[in-house]
Amino acid sequence: MKNILVLVSTLLLLISCEKTDTNRGVNIIPAPAEISIGSESFVLNDKVVITFAKPELELAAKYLSECFAKDANITLSVKSDTDSDNAIVLDYDESLNTSDAYLLKVDKQGVSITGANPRSVVLGIQTLRQMLPVDANKETTIPQVYIYDYPEWEWRGMHIDISRHFFNKEEVLEFLDIMAYYKFNKFHWHLTDDQGWRIEIKKYPLLVEKSAWREFDSNDKTCIKKAEKDHNTDYLLPENKMKEVDGKVLYGGYFTQEEIKEVVAYATKLGIDVIPEVDIPGHSSSSIAAYPELSCFGKTGWGEVFSAPLCPGKDNTLEVYKNIYTELFELFPYEYVHVGADEVDMTNWTKCPHCQVRIKKENLKDEYELHSWFVREMEKFFKENGKKLIGWDEIIEGGLSDEATVMWWRTWSRNAVKTATEQGNEVILTPNSHYYFDYQQTHKTLSDLYAYEPIPANMDTTYKHLIKGIQANLWAEVIPSRERQQYMYAPRILALSDVAWRYDKNRNWEEFQTRLLTHFPRLDKMKINYRPLDIPNVHERNVFIGSTEIQWNSPVKGVELRYTTDGTIPDKTSNLYTKPFRINETTEFTIRMFRPDGSAADIIKTVYSKEEYLQSVELKETTDGFNCVWYEGIFNSCNKIETVPVKETYVVESISVPQGVGGKQGLVYTGYIEIPSDDIYTFHLGSDDGSVLYIGDEIVVDNDGPHSPRTLSAQIAMGKGLHPIKLYYFDMNNGGFISLKLFNSKGEEVSVKGKRDCE
Ligand code: ACM
Ligand code: ZN
Repeated sequence: MKNILVLVSTLLLLISCEKTDTNRGVNIIPAPAEISIGSESFVLNDKVVITFAKPELELAAKYLSECFAKDANITLSVKSDTDSDNAIVLDYDESLNTSDAYLLKVDKQGVSITGANPRSVVLGIQTLRQMLPVDANKETTIPQVYIYDYPEWEWRGMHIDISRHFFNKEEVLEFLDIMAYYKFNKFHWHLTDDQGWRIEIKKYPLLVEKSAWREFDSNDKTCIKKAEKDHNTDYLLPENKMKEVDGKVLYGGYFTQEEIKEVVAYATKLGIDVIPEVDIPGHSSSSIAAYPELSCFGKTGWGEVFSAPLCPGKDNTLEVYKNIYTELFELFPYEYVHVGADEVDMTNWTKCPHCQVRIKKENLKDEYELHSWFVREMEKFFKENGKKLIGWDEIIEGGLSDEATVMWWRTWSRNAVKTATEQGNEVILTPNSHYYFDYQQTHKTLSDLYAYEPIPANMDTTYKHLIKGIQANLWAEVIPSRERQQYMYAPRILALSDVAWRYDKNRNWEEFQTRLLTHFPRLDKMKINYRPLDIPNVHERNVFIGSTEIQWNSPVKGVELRYTTDGTIPDKTSNLYTKPFRINETTEFTIRMFRPDGSAADIIKTVYSKEEYLQSVELKETTDGFNCVWYEGIFNSCNKIETVPVKETYVVESISVPQGVGGKQGLVYTGYIEIPSDDIYTFHLGSDDGSVLYIGDEIVVDNDGPHSPRTLSAQIAMGKGLHPIKLYYFDMNNGGFISLKLFNSKGEEVSVKGKRDCE
């Protein structure tokens, strides 16, 4: 490695003498480790040949040729010699001993990509593709560069769920293409869940016969309603996933084993490992529906939140699943296989004679240990078959086995990573707070994701080598279509790509945004239904005094912005925003952005409210802190919190959850805040679950309802002095947070410290 670095730095020095002062259109995502841009160019036309130095690279050479056909409408021949002039030469050199490292060199004579192994050549190919102009057609030029690149994380994962809604082979391959383009290398494929079984298992044909198709369920109905309410076709269930049987419409689909093999082969070509997940012992209603004897009481069912699980007390359950995994092992060559093991309702196990006998016989303490026993039994079987087991972080709870890999998802399970790594187990970080791409997006989502530190602060960094990497998950409860899936992952996947590849090396949000903006035309070309970036400085509620100028510009090139003021949903005939305009009355806008191909993004509702500065109040004497009252219970809206008896009262300096409060909680904060001068202020209220902020009698931010982490922002005009504040927050005992920030009209943060009336 040292020799290579010396070589690289010498070459970088040589080239940087010729360096121009622009980046010459080179905007790679993820950002390469080392890059130097020269002033020469390589002319790419159909006289160029792709050559490969070693037979293992033939597939990569063909792949590059296919990519150029798509990216630049150019057909290049592929040869196995390395003597050709005017060539793109693919080679690998094991002395580049960081796995996934590659060198990419472009000058006027030619292009070379040298990987540490055949797979890292494919990573270099992605960089080269991103160096082509987006409108490349037949003949184009590629700027001179010298890139030495390698990732920070070995595991750069993306997950999709094809159970809650089904995605077919073409859609999965398209997803793999995007993953590869942004250098993700682990595809975690959630194949089974309560709502559908999506993989043919030859030994148990009823799994797909009975459970790959369903009548519309509650998630489907939510999607259909949303499509209608918001005029949003992304939420429609695709017709090609429906069929009529006996006069009934059934929705679904599954992968045959032949199709699975095609996906795995395609992923392999792209340098991506596929990790199948067949979720046990919870999330298994689809297998229980087909084979009821797999459950404790011979039927499917639901507990308070999760479905009734498999019965680990019956030997047959273990045997059936060992047979299922055996078929999986044959289809998926990668050593890691995922067993899920999340979100198990153990109520049936406490009542089931088989489970209770198992607990006694195996000398287990309780149902958590029964869960752990079941996972360990599977792990033994995995090992006998040369496979490694991954489970969601619940596998820690009843005692973690020595070798299982933990996938941390519950951000609120704060000791999971610490515990697992201190025990010597590997961990993959997929914290739901930031890496769940099915969660709603607001103006803060992308920058928060970019800045987020995924390694929990309480873990001992001596064990950092046990963190394999990071991954985002895309659950499909309300993602019924390819378009919706893309809307949820793009552009988030680009931000995560930078984090996964470079991680802690001077991550700079401003710099990332300049690269990001150049990628939207690439996404347009790939027909990705991305979420356009937010319109700067538009909040859920905007305030003005007198009159104000409306200035809306989409940062994304070619995106049109249309709006209505009568509450109707904008379409392609609605008012087109072309230049700033002035309003002098309170106005409610519904805005919709349209991508260059005419497709519509989600609607944005916002109000511009004409106000006077809210008068402050006089208090004789104040003392520091907010009152905070804890009401214990499960709430689904803030106005229910004060309907139950008070559990405890506290005083807190600023808005935060007091020490000692946990579990099911509704918190109500009251007091005053001190406002430094007459101004228009912007509150950012983030919570998981719901929260509502009042100033005086007025609701300023309404972030209510059960939801995943979401930050909303809204403005209010306030006069200098003290203002009464009331803030409601609840968490349904599934991991939450509350955060309140305040900014003045210059964008400077103002501290939100509590005051109380002494009288
Ligand atoms: C999960 O989100 N239940 C892993
Ligand atoms: Zn049982």
